[in-house]
Amino acid sequence: MPTNSPLSAHLSPTGNLQIILAPLRGFTDAVYRTVYARHFAGVDMAVAPFVVAAGGRASLKAIADLRPEPNPLMPVIPQILGNDAPRFLDLAQRLADLGYASVNWNLGCPFPMVTRKRRGSGLLPYPAHIAAFLDAVSPRLPLNLSIKSRLGYANSEELFALLPIFDRHALEALVIHPRTGIQLYDGKVDLERFAVCLAASRHPVIYNGDITTCTEFLHRSNRFPTVSQWMVGRGVLVDPLLPARIKGLPLPENPADALSRFYEELTEAYARRLSGPGHLLDRMKGFWRYASRGFEDGETVWRRIRRTPDLTRYRRLTGVIFADFPLKAPPSQSV
Ligand SMILES: Cc1cc2nc3c(=O)[nH]c(=O)nc-3n(C[C@H](O)[C@H](O)[C@H](O)COP(=O)(O)O)c2cc1C
Repeated sequence: MPTNSPLSAHLSPTGNLQIILAPLRGFTDAVYRTVYARHFAGVDMAVAPFVVAAGGRASLKAIADLRPEPNPLMPVIPQILGNDAPRFLDLAQRLADLGYASVNWNLGCPFPMVTRKRRGSGLLPYPAHIAAFLDAVSPRLPLNLSIKSRLGYANSEELFALLPIFDRHALEALVIHPRTGIQLYDGKVDLERFAVCLAASRHPVIYNGDITTCTEFLHRSNRFPTVSQWMVGRGVLVDPLLPARIKGLPLPENPADALSRFYEELTEAYARRLSGPGHLLDRMKGFWRYASRGFEDGETVWRRIRRTPDLTRYRRLTGVIFADFPLKAPPSQSV
């Protein structure tokens, strides 16, 4: 069953290297994961965008997206955002009831609406709270636990101070995105500090951040040879063939045709899911903000997509783009 396998259970056919699709709220939902898996190889599993452990309509919708039925192809690990142990455990039980065997705790979200409430990366400066949370959750959790963290909220030493706390618990994995919360998604990833945390943690560490080409992947995998699991987010939105390139899997003879078919099916799948053409157009434009960067003249592609007023013209325009605008040549086809 694709939805209930633990994070560590999916060894790729190319050896130990595993590629995990990063959670990207507003992008990597069940529709995207399923259409993606129908078209492209290379992703071993996905961590789903977070569900807030506080109830409410948004949580119900996010839980519905995690049901097995809309997730038939790509193995999924659900993710919870929250800092309250009883609520976390309630939600974890609902996820266990859906058939999941693992859950990921979000200690990385950088957005002020979240961090102000001491959630996501906003909890990282509070080791006592994290220790009490894990002491309460670990012995009662019906699922395996992994954590996705940044280096800290404002200070990149915070995660380092948390590692001994994490080491007291049986974590399945620790995903590290080596930025601070206040950096949001800007500035450089801190590979020095990642190396320090990698050496200090007793748990399997998954690297995440700014892998957008095979060259970047190779640079990081040479530097961190003990890391076998790599989480990739925006790089997949820009170049859906990136996981296959990284693993040296066969690539489509005509990538533009393959991408064109993928976006066509994605549009049709969201048309069935979203209510109204406006929502659908907005959703697809969101994808094209990233996808446009995969073209040589990405700025023109993005400008034309952004200005498209309706779906009929959107569909016509994407046909023109795949026929007339060359894709960027990847710096290296595979590693
Ligand atoms: C639009 C967007 C939505 C995101 N949503 C989530 C989320 O729900 N949970 C999470 O842990 N991280 C989330 N992230 C962070 C990504 O999972 C990832 O850590 C970050 O983008 C760095 O990896 P990348 O450079 O490969 O994209 C989000 C990032 C973006 C840009």
